Amino acid sequence: MKRGPIFTPFKTAILDHHASTPLFDGSVTQTLNRADFDDAEKEISHWDGYAETPLIDLSGLAGRLGIGDLRYKHEGPRFGLGSFKALGGAYAVLRTVQRELSKSIGKLADPVDIRSGLYAEQTKAITVISATDGNHGRSVAWGAAQFHTNCRIYIHAEVSEHRADVMRNLGAEVIRVDGDYDATVAQTRADAEKHGWLIVSDTSWPGYTQPPLDVMAGYGVMARELVQSYTTPPTHVFLQGGVGGLAAAVTAVFHQEWGHDAPRVVIVEPELAPCLFASARANEATSVEISEETIMAGLSCGEPSELAWSVLADAASDFVTIPENIVGPMVRILANGACGDGPLEAGESGVAGLCAVVAVANQPALQRSLRLDAKSRIVVIGSEGITDPNVYAQIIEGEI
Ligand SMILES: Cc1ncc(COP(=O)(O)O)c(C=O)c1O
Repeated sequence: MKRGPIFTPFKTAILDHHASTPLFDGSVTQTLNRADFDDAEKEISHWDGYAETPLIDLSGLAGRLGIGDLRYKHEGPRFGLGSFKALGGAYAVLRTVQRELSKSIGKLADPVDIRSGLYAEQTKAITVISATDGNHGRSVAWGAAQFHTNCRIYIHAEVSEHRADVMRNLGAEVIRVDGDYDATVAQTRADAEKHGWLIVSDTSWPGYTQPPLDVMAGYGVMARELVQSYTTPPTHVFLQGGVGGLAAAVTAVFHQEWGHDAPRVVIVEPELAPCLFASARANEATSVEISEETIMAGLSCGEPSELAWSVLADAASDFVTIPENIVGPMVRILANGACGDGPLEAGESGVAGLCAVVAVANQPALQRSLRLDAKSRIVVIGSEGITDPNVYAQIIEGEI
């Protein structure tokens, strides 16, 4: 197979690989259960602007890599918010508001009535808050606007002003915290306790599980769209991880729908933020120190979600980390349609899974470990489009 110079950085990239033994003790189908995914699908598919996102056939790239089939679920268009996160945070806002409202009205309010503003007087007294490095906060802010609540979003020092402005324009108050993502999570917890605000987080911790479960149920909509698109399940899915919610939701849905035929699950993280990799090595949820921010802003998490981890411990086979220097080249390969697949706008966190596919396919030892060959049928989630145009422009210019 001819592999041109566009693959040069992928051939020499150093990836750490940990082969894990999935427990298959039931967490994969029980922690995130089918009924919760059903509820989320029923609700979200009725929202204005809902449309299935495209599953793009990257056959040109697959051919160059010697892989049978390679598909890319393109989440850029999701609800006009730029990423798959649109599904989770907004849905968790709805459920949080619904539960809070039920205390004053004595019944579970109909989401249609919450959205129409029937309960606006009560919902305007509710404040939802969240930490984010961009995409989750955008979804929470959008959800808060849809469901008529107040919203405060906490961001860390490295989150760009563009991302902050998008959330402000959706009506959120944005608070910049000194420190990293984990510091913003700590601040939301302290402020929620002090003021009685409601946290809508995409990550769980002991004693805090319902909103993260709702978030992951929302992501299940994307995973179910994928399942519907295949008549025969793919052999591998490469899933990028931040706190692990995306990967856990997709893994759970695939196992619920496909059982033993579910694809091999490969978790991909930046080498600068490998909390799931560390958890796999330690066999328990394990945090890592973030000493430098990765360009993959959405994946810059040092502390895994415990719930997500329990799902991944149950069903993920491989954990790999990727270096920073293959992200820009991957974004440019897609933008230029370099392999004849047609141009595609993908953000830096969105291509992480695909970066790993290309690197593994270019390195014989890894290729053998992960059993990638001409029969492999791989799916990746292009989890964001252009969510920060300044960063995207720098990548296209080759500055990153
Ligand atoms: C674009 C993108 N992809 C992937 C992820 C990872 O999702 P999770 O934190 O649920 O693992 C994020 C998280 O913010 C993201 O923004």
